[in-house]
Amino acid sequence: MTQLADLYRIDNFIDTFALGHYARVLYAHDKRKDRVVALKVMRPEHLAPEDDPRWEYRAFANESDLLTKLADSPHVVKLYDCGYLSARSEAPISGEIESFGTDAAAFSRELATFSERGWRPYLALEHIPRSSNLYYQMRPDKQGLRLRLPTEEGLALALQFAEMLKLAHSRNIVYMDHKLEHVYWDGIHLRVIDFNSSRLLEKGRDNSQLLRQDVHNLCVGILYSMFTGLSPQKTALRPQPGALSEVEARYQDINSLDFGVEPSLSQTLQELLQRGAAVQLERVDDFIDGLRNVGTVHGWDFPNYTTEPISREARSQMRAGISRIRRGQDYLREARDLFREAAIQDGIPDDLEAELRRLVKSVNEMLQNRVIP
Ligand SMILES: Nc1ncnc2c1ncn2[C@@H]1O[C@H](COP(=O)(O)OP(=O)(O)O)[C@@H](O)[C@H]1O
Ligand SMILES: [Mg+2]
Repeated sequence: MTQLADLYRIDNFIDTFALGHYARVLYAHDKRKDRVVALKVMRPEHLAPEDDPRWEYRAFANESDLLTKLADSPHVVKLYDCGYLSARSEAPISGEIESFGTDAAAFSRELATFSERGWRPYLALEHIPRSSNLYYQMRPDKQGLRLRLPTEEGLALALQFAEMLKLAHSRNIVYMDHKLEHVYWDGIHLRVIDFNSSRLLEKGRDNSQLLRQDVHNLCVGILYSMFTGLSPQKTALRPQPGALSEVEARYQDINSLDFGVEPSLSQTLQELLQRGAAVQLERVDDFIDGLRNVGTVHGWDFPNYTTEPISREARSQMRAGISRIRRGQDYLREARDLFREAAIQDGIPDDLEAELRRLVKSVNEMLQNRVIP
């Protein structure tokens, strides 16, 4: 019998800006490995001890299985541990734990037993900082503000996502649950979370429709929003629903994209995303090929594609500029935090406090109009 507190120290919720349907997610300190993890635990309302385990319960076994099968992808969040918790409260802090490490098969086998006992499944995941969550970065909480990723970074993100899908599809896995809330981007590396709506397809079946739909969902559910700052439903950004039926239906009716708000976005890129939205891209490779065509125009080099030297040079300057903007924005945030911390010190004279607050406000206004989300 192991106590939860022996293995994990549980801290605050980290999912409050983008709540999921299946789970609550908390910071936790993994005492065995001495590191921070994101502890994803099933919401208590999905428990059904008297009944067969619900879909939501089974989804945890599905997710642990798929994370294990894709553990070699640099873009898939790492699974560190999975198991069951006896605590019934939304934020578990006490009670018992049964930990299976990364043995997803054993975790799945025990599912019915623990469901009957009224215990909840959990996954301990690599923690990824909120500041790189794409939904969070796009500031959907700020009315009237519309941010978009620079094309250079957006292309890099799209290529990495496509590589992840290519690997997944080669193993008969479709991701399906494309939305900004599940994407983490630090300017260089992509990380994707939440595979509980993803599916392992039966071999030997004709799965081509689902493979096309996965590329469609990427174009509609993530790339459109990232390049325009709008939801694919053409509204301001808002959270996308997450229950099973909603994931499948979410972007089904969206077969064309409106780039009216971003007329300067590369025409070839717009056309490529339109083809994805129209479910015309048969395979991820067709999409990758399209992205490379766009990239070549934008100064990227790929084997067997021809890049003009002038474009290559311009791109290298653009990259240098973008990395300076990222540094600059980080400095602005640091400066703002210094002013803010100074302003709340006890006993500070009113005059000085007022000046510090003026500076905080002024820097915040600058950050509102930033170039990179
Ligand atoms: N590994 C992680 N690192 C940091 N935050 C995470 C991580 N996994 C999930 N979250 C946060 O928790 C939220 C819900 O997690 P998610 O896996 O999407 O749950 P659900 O399956 O219920 O949709 C995410 O939108 C994100 O804000
Ligand atoms: Mg989710």
